[in-house]
Amino acid sequence: MKTNLIISQLKALLENSNNSLGNLANAASLLYFELGDINWAGFYFYDENCDTLKLGPFVGKIACMQIKNKSGVCGTAFASMQPQCVKNVHEFPGHIACDAATNSELVVPLTVNSQPIGVIDLDSTTRNRFGEAELALVEQFASVLANYLDANKILAAITH
Ligand code: SME
Repeated sequence: MKTNLIISQLKALLENSNNSLGNLANAASLLYFELGDINWAGFYFYDENCDTLKLGPFVGKIACMQIKNKSGVCGTAFASMQPQCVKNVHEFPGHIACDAATNSELVVPLTVNSQPIGVIDLDSTTRNRFGEAELALVEQFASVLANYLDANKILAAITH
């Protein structure tokens, strides 16, 4: 695992940039290409007005715009604030299939200043792609990224 390298790259990308959307897009790209064997990497952010997670920056095929809180792997991770490491998505009750090719998924909650704001979502066509190492990396990634995010700016970007 290239954990240290990926975290260093993330910090380098985020330093001196106050472009929230650009930072998130680059963060998704970093996970997508540096982890490898990933077919979707990105963010969903929580809109409490409609109790729904809304699509944020990502790399991959087009995806669901909205996921009701508590639904699917993302909504389960967000509602429980517990990471979801799903070896086989076809066995996860209520899994939302944005890309039929996806077989495994890792979703990690994202919190800014103790405020739950959304999730990082990673998909792979390989079964059992995500284990302890990937979970530890993405949790560290989420915690570093959170230091650079402005929850109000993100909320403004996903609402109208
Ligand atoms: N599979 C997710 C939906 C999002 S896509 O994977 C990008 C879920 O069940 O919540």
